[in-house]
Amino acid sequence: MSEKIEISYQVYESVDALPLEDKELLLEAEKISETAYAPYSNFLVGAAIRTENGQIVTGNNQENAAYPSGLCAERTAIYYLGSQFPNENIKTIAVAARRRGQEFLAVAPCGSCRQAMVEYEAKQEKPIRFIMRGENDTVLVLPAIKSLLPFSFTDF
Ligand code: THU
Repeated sequence: MSEKIEISYQVYESVDALPLEDKELLLEAEKISETAYAPYSNFLVGAAIRTENGQIVTGNNQENAAYPSGLCAERTAIYYLGSQFPNENIKTIAVAARRRGQEFLAVAPCGSCRQAMVEYEAKQEKPIRFIMRGENDTVLVLPAIKSLLPFSFTDF
């Protein structure tokens, strides 16, 4: 017997082609990437989270001289939301990343951030949409975090 897992996602040809709400969220992610503390990698990442009630919370990567002590933008933002507004459901997360002084890149979230985000998705029992850049100026919109992390670890 064999099984197959498929993922579907939208591809927009540019940031401007996105629905307005999603474009606004991605631009918030771009904006907050500017204040990332990333003196070691010079890789600036911003994450913007839109809740179901329309609130936007943002975060960026925070590095440390003890490298593994740093934290990615996605987790900075989602842990802030989880601590300040524990009962707010997340509608969408957008991420933007670039090397300092360069253009925004096609970047997908690291495995640890996928694991963190998928748990909030399971907790709220509703999918979290995820927006990131693809190749050649495209923007990808995934319908759920679990599309990014099938077979995630879960303990509840
Ligand atoms: N980083 C993020 O903030 N998000 C990602 O999805 C990938 C990587 C950060 C961690 C580190 O500060 C820098 O980018 C280089 O890896």
